[in-house]
Amino acid sequence: MCGIVGYIGYREAYPIIIKGLQRLEYRGYDSAGIALYDGKNINLSKTKGKVVDLQKRAEQEISLKGYIGIGHTRWATHGVPNDVNSHPHYSNSEDLVVIHNGIIENYAPLKKELQSKGYVFTSDTDTEVLINLIEYVQKNENLKLGKAVQLALTQVVGAYAIAVFDKKKPNEVIAARMGSPLAIGVGEDKKEFFIASDASPFIEYTKNAIYLEDGEIAVIRVGKDIKLRKIADDTLLDPFIQALELNLEQIEKGGYEHFMLKEIHEQPNAIIDTYRGRMLVNEGIIRMAGIDNHLERFLNADRIIIVACGTSWHAALVAEYVIESLARIPVEVEYASEFRYRNPIITSKDVVIAISQSGETADTRAAIQLAKQKGAFVFGVCNVVGSTISRESDAGAYTHAGPEIGVASTKAFTTQITVLILIALKLAKAKGSISNDEYFTHLQELERIPAKVAEALTSDENIKTIAAIYKDSPNFLYLGRGFNFPVALEGALKLKEISYIHAEGYPAAEMKHGPIALIDEKMPIVVIATKKGHYEKVVSNIEEIKARSGKIIAIVTKGDVDVKALADHVIEVPDTLELLSPLLTTIPLQLLSYHIAVMRNCNVDQPRNLAKSVTVE
Ligand code: AGP
Ligand code: GLU
Repeated sequence: MCGIVGYIGYREAYPIIIKGLQRLEYRGYDSAGIALYDGKNINLSKTKGKVVDLQKRAEQEISLKGYIGIGHTRWATHGVPNDVNSHPHYSNSEDLVVIHNGIIENYAPLKKELQSKGYVFTSDTDTEVLINLIEYVQKNENLKLGKAVQLALTQVVGAYAIAVFDKKKPNEVIAARMGSPLAIGVGEDKKEFFIASDASPFIEYTKNAIYLEDGEIAVIRVGKDIKLRKIADDTLLDPFIQALELNLEQIEKGGYEHFMLKEIHEQPNAIIDTYRGRMLVNEGIIRMAGIDNHLERFLNADRIIIVACGTSWHAALVAEYVIESLARIPVEVEYASEFRYRNPIITSKDVVIAISQSGETADTRAAIQLAKQKGAFVFGVCNVVGSTISRESDAGAYTHAGPEIGVASTKAFTTQITVLILIALKLAKAKGSISNDEYFTHLQELERIPAKVAEALTSDENIKTIAAIYKDSPNFLYLGRGFNFPVALEGALKLKEISYIHAEGYPAAEMKHGPIALIDEKMPIVVIATKKGHYEKVVSNIEEIKARSGKIIAIVTKGDVDVKALADHVIEVPDTLELLSPLLTTIPLQLLSYHIAVMRNCNVDQPRNLAKSVTVE
C-alpha cells in the first residue's frame, strides 16, 4: 500500500518523480526512495521518512541526472520502516531495480530457493525476493527483461503493482499489476511515459492514461506502442487509452492549510456533484443507470448485505437505517474483513453493496469476490473512477466527490450517504413503500442539503473555541440515536485517527449499560441531539450525563433552547428531515476533530500508522 511513480522519456525524471511521490504520499509515508539512470549507472537513494527527507538526502548523495527513473513511498508490510527496507530494491547484480506496491505472499519459500542458488538478501522485504527471482529467471532462461518479469510473476502469489528496469537495457521499463492499482500516462507522440499508482503524478503532462487490469504486464519503450500482455497466457492485448477528466487544481490544497480542511469545505459542492444529473426534482425522477438496469434484482432481493470498512462502514450503517425505513428491504451491514472469514450465508437472491472511497480496499475486494462466487449480485459504491472494486462489481454508482487526499475520510462519507439515500428513495418509489408526497419531500429537501451543509460550516469559530478547551482530554465519548448513531461512531473515529485521543461512539441509550461508568467532570461527551427523532429521549440521556458532571458538547437544531440550557456547549446545525440529518450533524464532528488535531500539532493529512488506501488484508 504505497505510492509508485516511474518515468521514461525526454525530460529530467527526478523532479517529476519527487513531485509525483509527494502527491502519492497519502498512500504510504514511512520511507521513500528513488533510482535514476544517468546514461551509465543507476543512482539510487532511499531513506526512512517522508519524501522531503528523501529529497534532502538524494540531493546530497547522488547525481540527479537521467531521463529514466522510478520512485516509491512506502507503507511497510514486510520489514520495519528503515533505510534498507525502503524501495527501490536492486537485484544481486545491481543491474535490475524495482519498486513494488503490495505483498508477495509466497516470498518465504522463494527466498529459500534463491538462497540455495547463492542469492543474498540485505533487506527483510518480500520485494527484494521478487527482483532477485526476476534476475534468476532472466539469467537462467536467457530472456529479455519483459519475458523474465512475466515468467517470474507466474511463480508469485500475492498482490503487486511494479515497475522494473535494467541497467543493461535502459530503453524500457516493465510495469505489471495484480491487485494493486497501476496507471500508465501516455505522452504526446509516445515521446514519454509515466507509471503511477494513480494519475495524479502525471496529470499536468498528459490526460491520456491506460489503467492496467489485474494479471497484465506492459513493456514501455519511448517511441513505441505499449506492448500489453496477459501474464498467465501471453495473450497480446489492445491497450485502452482513456482520456482523464481530473485536473491539477482538484488535487492541490486550494489555499487551505490541509487537504482535510479543504475536503470538509468541499462537501456542499461534492454533494451536488453526487446528485447532479441523477435527481430531477421537478419531474420526481432519480436516474441511476446501475440501478435502472438491474431494478428487478434489487426489488426481488431477499436482503441487501452491505460490506465496507472504517468510515465507509459507518456510511453503510446509515444506509441500513435509510433503506429499511424507506424501501422496507432487510439490510445487513458487515465489516468486509469479518464477512469473508466467517463462512456467511449468501445466496443468488442477495444483493451485496460494497462501499469504498478508494475502491481498492483489500478486505472489501475479498468480500465481494466471495459474494460473487456465491452468485450474489454485487453493486459497488466507489469514489475513485476506474478503481478495482468499481470494475469488479456487476453494477455500481460513483460518488463523484473528487479526489480525497486527506487520510481521514470526510467528503467521501457524506457523498456515500447521498448516493445511498438516492438508491433507497429510488427503490422505495419502485416498490411503492412510501407515498408520493413523502418521496417528493425527500427529493426537495435533499436538494437543499448542500446549502445547509454550507451553513453548518459557518460554526467553525465556535467549534475552534470548544476544541481549545478539550484538546488535552485523554478520552471522549460520542453519543447519537437512530440515524445519528453511526454519526457518533464516525465522530469518534475521526478524533482517534487524527488527534490520537481515545474516543468511543455509542448509541445514546446504550450508555447506561456500561459507558456511563466512565463519566466524571473531566469527560467530554459529544451528544447529537437534533430535534427530530428521539429528541426527548436524548435530552434524558443528557440529563443523566449532567447528573454525573460530564462535560456536554451538544449538536443541536438551530434555535434549540432546551438542550442549550443543559449543555456546556452547543453547536447548531440547520433543521432538516430526520433521515437526512447525518449529512449535517457529521460536519461539526469533522471540524471538531480537525481543530483538536491541529492544536495538538498532529499531522492531520497523514496520521501515523494509517494509509489512505488499505490494499492489504
Ligand atoms: C477513514 O477516515 C479511514 N481512514 C478508513 O477507515 C477508511 O474509511 C477505510 O480504510 C475504508 O477505505 P475505503 O472507503 O477506501 O474502502
Ligand atoms: N511489501 C512491500 C514492503 O513491505 C511493499 C509494501 C508497500 O506496498 O508499500 O516493502
